[in-house]
Parts: sequence; C-alpha cells; structure tokens
Amino acid sequence: MAKEAKDGLAVVATQSPGDLVGTAVIAEDAVQDPGLPAHRKRVTDTDPKKAKNAERAVFTLFYLSIAGSLGAVLAYMAFPIESGSMLDIRLHTLFVGLGMALGLLGIGIGAVHWGKTLMYDGESIDYRHPVASDAETRKTAAEIFEIADKESGFTRRTLVRNSLIGALIAFPLPGVTLLRSLAPQEYDPIDLLKHTMWDKGVRLARDPSGVPIKASEVTIGSAFHVIPENLHEAQHPLDEKAKAIVLLMRLDKRDLKEPEDRKTWSYDGIVAYSKVCTHVGCPVALYEQHTHHLLCPCHQSQFDVSDMAKVVFGPAKRPLPQLPITVDDEGYLVAQSDFLEPVGPSYWERLK
Ligand code: FES
Repeated sequence: MAKEAKDGLAVVATQSPGDLVGTAVIAEDAVQDPGLPAHRKRVTDTDPKKAKNAERAVFTLFYLSIAGSLGAVLAYMAFPIESGSMLDIRLHTLFVGLGMALGLLGIGIGAVHWGKTLMYDGESIDYRHPVASDAETRKTAAEIFEIADKESGFTRRTLVRNSLIGALIAFPLPGVTLLRSLAPQEYDPIDLLKHTMWDKGVRLARDPSGVPIKASEVTIGSAFHVIPENLHEAQHPLDEKAKAIVLLMRLDKRDLKEPEDRKTWSYDGIVAYSKVCTHVGCPVALYEQHTHHLLCPCHQSQFDVSDMAKVVFGPAKRPLPQLPITVDDEGYLVAQSDFLEPVGPSYWERLK
C-alpha cells in the first residue's frame, strides 16, 4: 500500500492501478484499529429447532398484528359514537385504540425479533475517509474568527458580552411563563364553555354599539350582529362576547321550517342563531338573503337559516345552536333563556 505525506496526513493509495488515488486519508498518529471481538454465534445459528421456534414467534406476532388491525375496524363498527353517549365514546376509543396498538406493536416487535434471531448476523467493515477540510482552509477559517473577534470586541468587552449572554438567556422566559395559562384555572372550563351570558329577559343589542333592537326594526331579509345588552357588565367582556355573539335575521314566516317544539323560539319570522361556527369556531358572518344560507368564510361551511341552521355544505357537523327569543313589553327583542346546547366546536364533554 503506497503512502504520500500531505499536510500532516497520510494519503493512502489503493494498490490497483485502475483505482483512484487519495480516496482514503488517515492521520499519521491514528489509533490502531483494535479490531472486532470474536464473532459469537446465536443459538438460532447453531440449533435448527431454536431457529424454527424463532420463526414461529415472528409469524405469530405478524398474525397478531393482522388480528389487532381487523379488530380495530370491527370495534369501530361495533361501538358507534353517533349516539353521543359518553359510554359509547369511551368503549369506541378504548377498543379502537387497543386494536391499533396491537396492530402496530405486532409489526414492530415481530420485525425486531426477526432481525435479532433470524437475519444474517455477520459483521462487515465500511472504511470512511475523514471529512475535515484541508489545513489551509481550516487556517483561513480560524483567521476569520480571530478578525471577527477583534472587530466586535466580543472577548475584550466582557461586560457587553456577559450582558448579551444574560439577555439571550432571559429572552425565552416570557414564552415559558405564558404556559402558565394552560394550568388548571379557578373556574371549571367545561362549565364556562357550556354557558353564555344569555338569560331570560336579556335584550338583544347591536354589536358593537350595545343599542337594544326592537322587533319592528328588523325588516325581512335584514341581518343583525347581536350581543347581550348587559355585555359591558361582564368581568371579561371579550371572552363572553366570543361565546354569546349571535346573528339575527328576519324571514318570511312561510319560509321557516320549524318543528312543533321550536315554534316558540322565533318571533314573527325573526330567528337568532349563534355566530360561532360549529366546525372550529370562526365567526359565521356572511348571510345570503335569497337562499337563507349563512356562510362561514374559514372553510366554507353553509347553514340553512330557514331550516334550523342545518349544515348544507362544508366540514361543520352540527347546526348552529338557536337562541330562543321573544319581545318584552316595550317591543324589544329579548332572550327566553340561554342557548339550550353548547355553542361552538366539539369537545369531549359536549352532550349534543
Ligand atoms: S370554522 Fe367554519 S367552516 Fe371551519
């Protein structure tokens, strides 16, 4: 094997005349290769019976994986969650999850066992050359660092340097502090999500002025963005508004499809629906008078106001909750109660 000295390194040339010279480089003071320990054969290499057992274990694990995956599909059908019952949701989650876990674990453990007991067990060596740049390039890089250090005064001006390091350490602290908001709060979050400021007798007011709306002001085809009149009294008005915001529209009464139990929820063709999209909570703010459709601009869900705000298009899965309304003695529109179901997107504890 020929050697050629260069920059303190020895360039090793291959012996065959056709091979490229300099494809491997080793330092002159390199530690001697201690070699590999003697190869120890596995029991499966020497005992065909043990190899057969390992093979059985591997295909059993793969079959278990198939059973787990099919089990997950069956569990999906056997425990439907459409009823909305918490028991059904729990059984569904448990058995689908167990099936998928078995499916993945079977493949994973089977593959590892296969590799360790049955696949080829020989050692092989792949020599690589060092990836360091040549001495000249490294020297130039070091000179650049020295010049930059001199020009910036990074090591000379210790107060500036140390205060910069301190500022960089302190910089992420506000981000970490914000995580505190995810900790358990004083109020039950589920309760907060289920209730809004609407209550019996609360007047419907224009957003954002807070001026109450009379039924006589709502003409056919018009739409109002509405907040509770007492919103300004809330401790956190923005949070409350985000849940209580409502869209108010008047339709020709003949166009309204109202089931018997909801006939009293509207007033003379005026209906009020939550403005919070049941998909992921964007404001459903676009009303098309001719079709009576409300459109959510985020992902284009459409709700039919004439038919209990049912979903007619898009990814939303539930109608917009309706706010039961009536009028008070002075002709102002008022709520009959809070919404009868939680507004906004899904969450596990939601009942409807
Ligand atoms: S948030 Fe309304 S469609 Fe997605």
